[in-house]
Amino acid sequence: MPARSTVILGTGAYAPERVLTNHDLSRLVDTSDEWIRARSGIRERRIAAADEATSDMAVHAGRRALADAGAVASEIDLLIVATVTPDHPMPATACIVQHRLGVPTQAACFDLNAACSGFIYGLDIACAMLGSGRHKKALVIGAEKLSSIVDWKDRGTCLLFGDGAGAVVVGMSAKPGIGLIGTRLGALGENTGLLQIPAGGSRTPTSPKSIARGDHFIKMKGKEVFKLAVRLMEEAARDILEQHGLAANQIGLVIPHQANLRIIEAIAQYLELPVDRFFVNVDRYGNTSSASIPIALDEARLTGRIKPGELTLLVAFGAGLTYGSALIRW
Ligand code: UT7
Repeated sequence: MPARSTVILGTGAYAPERVLTNHDLSRLVDTSDEWIRARSGIRERRIAAADEATSDMAVHAGRRALADAGAVASEIDLLIVATVTPDHPMPATACIVQHRLGVPTQAACFDLNAACSGFIYGLDIACAMLGSGRHKKALVIGAEKLSSIVDWKDRGTCLLFGDGAGAVVVGMSAKPGIGLIGTRLGALGENTGLLQIPAGGSRTPTSPKSIARGDHFIKMKGKEVFKLAVRLMEEAARDILEQHGLAANQIGLVIPHQANLRIIEAIAQYLELPVDRFFVNVDRYGNTSSASIPIALDEARLTGRIKPGELTLLVAFGAGLTYGSALIRW
């Protein structure tokens, strides 16, 4: 049987309407537009409406990806939603999205928590499950309502995060040499304390005390995360290039997790690539965790930054600390 490859058949994204600018934030906490732009490159982020949940954004992005792929929901037999902000702790947001989109009951549907690396983890799992021959077409979505877990009184974190969703349809192709060429996943579990929501799980169930401490919000040691983010993303990029006998300058476009422009610039410097080889939209969305890469991927395609035959490198890190990279030829 000829070798078949897993390919991205379509992409889609959704960002909520409401824009929260740095000036708006400076009315909530002691900060300024100048400080936020200088330290993170972020100008504004999108914030979901009070009645808009992660699944609502996931459904929009999923529909757009299906339309872009020329596919219909009834063809999907695997649905993965990467998120750290599910609609509920249980059931999986993927099941809510399944029902709303009309994905068949025979489809495997589950959520995946690998924080900001979640989309790359999801892509890798979809490729493996499609490659096994047991599934034919997957919808992989990264969707987050981070505004619901941000402490709007903590100026060290609230500047960074935003809401949104991105999605891809993954299928098989008989065309050799294209599609998902490889992935490199990993995690540095000794660093779980650097970026976490301390309460609300089985270790510390939500209680009046945990709420009073604000332990249901994101807590982050920003400086330490910054340094590890640069190291891990550089490592994940170098490893995958080496595995495939490629030099960094053979990559047409790098789509990094959009956490901080300074992190992206540092990686560009270490990989000795011009920064314009990196797709950047962190200025408009901030960090949308697992939605960050699929939103950027969709924008990169729509704006003609991805050319047929070229290689795209996805690279991310997130709470865990998880990290991952993926190489795609179009
Ligand atoms: O997906 C993973 C998500 N996490 C990340 O990617 C986070 C990575 N880390 C970062 O992006 C950066 O650490 C931040 C942007 C969060 C912070 O930038 P920094 O350059 O590491 O600043 P810092 O925390 O070292 O703070 C420097 C100063 C401090 O004042 P002092 O102690 O020097 O007097 C802070 O109190 O800036 C102060 N500061 C602020 N000032 C104005 C901290 N946050 C703010 C703020 N506005 N929002």
